[in-house]
Amino acid sequence: MLHFGLVGCGSIAQQRAQALAASPVARLRAVYDADPARASAFAQQFHVEAAPSLDALLARPDIDAIVVSTPPDSHAPIAIAALNAGKHVLCEKPLARTPDEARLILDAAARNARTLATGFNFRFYPSVAKARELFQSGAIGELDHIRASCGYRIDPASGWLHDASITGGGALQDNGIHLIDTVLHFLGDATDATEIHGHTTSSLHHWPGCEENGFLLLRNAAGRVATLQASWTEWAGYHFRVELHGALGLIRFTCFPMVTELITAQGRQRFLHPHANLMEKLKSYRWIVVQSFLREFEEFARLIAGQPSLIATGHDGWRAVHAAAAARGRA
Ligand SMILES: NC(=O)c1ccc[n+]([C@@H]2O[C@H](COP(=O)([O-])OP(=O)(O)OC[C@H]3O[C@@H](n4cnc5c(N)ncnc54)[C@H](O)[C@@H]3O)[C@@H](O)[C@H]2O)c1
Repeated sequence: MLHFGLVGCGSIAQQRAQALAASPVARLRAVYDADPARASAFAQQFHVEAAPSLDALLARPDIDAIVVSTPPDSHAPIAIAALNAGKHVLCEKPLARTPDEARLILDAAARNARTLATGFNFRFYPSVAKARELFQSGAIGELDHIRASCGYRIDPASGWLHDASITGGGALQDNGIHLIDTVLHFLGDATDATEIHGHTTSSLHHWPGCEENGFLLLRNAAGRVATLQASWTEWAGYHFRVELHGALGLIRFTCFPMVTELITAQGRQRFLHPHANLMEKLKSYRWIVVQSFLREFEEFARLIAGQPSLIATGHDGWRAVHAAAAARGRA
């Protein structure tokens, strides 16, 4: 059983703590937030202790690992302090604001021989898991290229999300960073993207440093190509869609709703993930997020134990931030 401390008792931390309460491999022991009232209410809600400071949380010998769920500008200092204190770290996305900042976290993990993972929980959504299963079974043969896009219409009142000094960027640092990880996950770990070309546009809000649309063209060492777009100005509403084009067919998946499709010369198969989609309707998308976090904690435990794991590593977190920065010409 892994014992966790959690830093940042905000919105996503609610789902993290719900997953920890239900997990067979992980337990929440204590939390810390810069806002003591918020930490104390959260601690009461989940029947754990509120630490009076970050140092006090990190000094606890009964804690093995830390979830960092603060806004991105504090990911590096908190994650590095946790790693220096001998804790493993699971950090929410984006791992950091810039590739250099992310690299400092990776260095701290290596220096302290601790495990660092990035919270790319889309990997554990049912439509993505089914696509991975089909892909790995050879259903579309050799991968040729990936076409991917995601988007939604950002609410201008959405707090720090469009403050680049906090996030490091716009749509590509937000939902787009999940899309980048998903694409790189299917392109293959052994063949990291070696060529990245990108462009960004901002035509509506003009928040400094925050692209409203980000476009990437990737080509990895094996010659496989991916195109992706992340948008904050999606007039048609939320979408997250990936297509894996192979020599023998196509795997297409969407997240919300969860749908996976396999299209080959033999015909078309649709996997509708009825349980997940029903629970989304009954309990909101947050139910699916909690399920994905449950899987993510299992895979985190496997990574710490040195077993093969599907969780995004620190390196995966770095390469996603690196690709996003490349689109802005800042890699
Ligand atoms: N995996 C996902 O799909 C997903 C979804 C939403 C958010 N996130 C990520 O989770 C992180 C948190 O997002 P959120 O929406 O929960 O934010 P939030 O603003 O709702 O909560 C952040 C919390 O962190 C606290 N905080 C800020 N700076 C701190 C510091 N230095 N030390 C301690 N506490 C501090 C704040 O007081 C607040 O309680 C972000 O990195 C975000 O990108 C991931």
